[in-house]
Amino acid sequence: MLERTLAIIKPDGVRSRIIGEIIRRYEQGGMTPIAIRSTQLTKEQAEAFYHVHREQPFFGDLTSFMSSGPIVVLALEGEGAILRHRELMGATDPAMAADGTIRKAFGTSIDCNVVHGSDAPDTADKEITFFFKNTDLCAIT
Ligand code: CMP
Repeated sequence: MLERTLAIIKPDGVRSRIIGEIIRRYEQGGMTPIAIRSTQLTKEQAEAFYHVHREQPFFGDLTSFMSSGPIVVLALEGEGAILRHRELMGATDPAMAADGTIRKAFGTSIDCNVVHGSDAPDTADKEITFFFKNTDLCAIT
């Protein structure tokens, strides 16, 4: 099924100058970026985006890190894009991620894990809407 998912290249990925490498992996993995922009979240915006994790002990560190520098947000489209993106990212903890995945190659800790991806269709819709207007999404496939 043709799906859309949200990807975030986190501040560590931007600082490491691997934006292009990550987008290359998405394209070669069969996904099309249908919207891309860079931004820097405020702490409050990071807290809103990760609201679902607000009770977790890592919430403060996560939202501080996510607002610590520029990020790149992408809406990706492709067959089974949500699962495909999760496969390309690898496990949340880079130490547990499979060989060949983005987090295994470039992640340095569970917080500095380079990329975020939506985990289900309803969250993908909400997360894409958090960053993009409908008119920003330009299907080119
Ligand atoms: P992400 O996919 O962006 O979703 C929430 C983030 O919280 C996750 O990636 C990790 O970077 C971060 N995080 C920190 N500690 C944990 C943890 N124990 N379990 C899950 N996510 C964590």
